[in-house]
Amino acid sequence: MSKGGDIKYDIVKIIKRMHKGIEKQIFDYLAKHLKPERLEHSYNVAILAVDLASIYNVNILKAQIAGLLHDCAKYMTNKELVNFFKKNNKTLGYFDELIKFSPYILHSFAGEIIARKKFEIKDRDILNAVRNHTLGRKDMSVLEKIIFVADSVSYDRKWKNVKRVRDSARKDLDKTFLKVLAGKIGYVINNGMFLYSQTVETWNWYVLNNKKDS
Ligand SMILES: [Fe+2]
Ligand SMILES: [Fe+2]
Repeated sequence: MSKGGDIKYDIVKIIKRMHKGIEKQIFDYLAKHLKPERLEHSYNVAILAVDLASIYNVNILKAQIAGLLHDCAKYMTNKELVNFFKKNNKTLGYFDELIKFSPYILHSFAGEIIARKKFEIKDRDILNAVRNHTLGRKDMSVLEKIIFVADSVSYDRKWKNVKRVRDSARKDLDKTFLKVLAGKIGYVINNGMFLYSQTVETWNWYVLNNKKDS
């Protein structure tokens, strides 16, 4: 088996299922559950993710599926998210704080569960990309970083300088990832919001590892 054989095997399975309509299933699900703006955002994240995947040698189908699915649980209210999470017997560190201050963050974890259970996605990289698109984590894969960045700088995002950051993602994904992460942390702090521990861990891991490299 060639290097990365497992990945190829997963992709063969994904392609086979696409012919059976997995892509259509995802489109139908998103169209049924998401508001039009969120649906448009999901398409835009998938489009940019595919673009970045082609630059950084990541499988395009994986990027497309992860981009489409990343916000698949975004239709749930905060209360529904908490209940969904409890129903699926999931626990997270600082869960009480998360519920109290930022329950919407659960949509990324719930999205992973939907991807796994509803769409039978077994590819760990796609699942991680959905799961970690809001908080990041240490030592992310290229696909995870692509979805994390694409979510913040997709074509539907209109914040100041977004185009510049989008362009920089095409030149240096790692640098842009850190810039986007720093921007998210700054936003949370400036708005007096709860800074979740996983985000702090993500930031510190990359600071320490960048120092090691330099
Ligand atoms: Fe999201
Ligand atoms: Fe998103």
